[in-house]
Amino acid sequence: MKKIHSLVLLPVAAIVLSGCTSAPTPADVNKATAEMLKNSFQARGIATLDRLNQDQANAECAVADATGKPLDAKMTKAIEDASMKTVKWPTDGKFIGDWKEGEKIAQSGRGLTWTDTATSENGGNCYNCHQISKEEISFGTLGPSLYNYGKLRGVTDPASAGGKAIVEYTWGKLWNARAYNACSQMPRVGHMGILNQKQIQDVMALLLDPASPVNK
Ligand code: HEC
Repeated sequence: MKKIHSLVLLPVAAIVLSGCTSAPTPADVNKATAEMLKNSFQARGIATLDRLNQDQANAECAVADATGKPLDAKMTKAIEDASMKTVKWPTDGKFIGDWKEGEKIAQSGRGLTWTDTATSENGGNCYNCHQISKEEISFGTLGPSLYNYGKLRGVTDPASAGGKAIVEYTWGKLWNARAYNACSQMPRVGHMGILNQKQIQDVMALLLDPASPVNK
């Protein structure tokens, strides 16, 4: 027991000692954490160590989270603007695919492990954080319920001009959730290459097609 405790405390102790008098700053803790992660992960298959590199938004939001101090307005806007620029709109102009395929993608948490290949199709893992269709009774609640997503927003025909704003917002949200909420906890499924365009069109249909069980 004693040994485990001292091992866990080692990185923190190292910072305190090297800093001599002052308490570790968030930057010190981040550095120690990054080193710990680097030392405990091994690259294997497609799961390479570059996954440990934080982009600017990840780094800024991690500090905000750790210190309990939200980002200032300027940084929030900078992250949201930069994230918005990453959104790739559908190359075939189609926002809505097949909701039945979308349901399978939302259900699946498969992908991105070392046993997958660079061309394996990943799942969206959406039920892990959201209620979506009523038929699925096992879901996480980190994100809001998406049951009746299109219906509640008055989308009766996603292809019509009336539904355009919601349809575009939903696409952008799926592509890069940080475009609308700088420190969103939702995975950036388009931007990070987790889902491809066709899969996003299918998940869009699950949320927005009036024929989808989500909107019944
Ligand atoms: C790790 C948890 C997590 C996963 C996985 C996740 N989301 Fe989210 N999602 C959230 C959170 C938290 C929010 C609310 C905060 C925000 O808007 O960023 C959210 C917000 C949303 C919104 C906006 C809702 C609104 O009313 O504006 C949509 C749409 C959405 N998610 C769809 C999806 C879909 C589809 C998937 C699967 C491809 C998915 N999410 C996967 C956590 C998650």
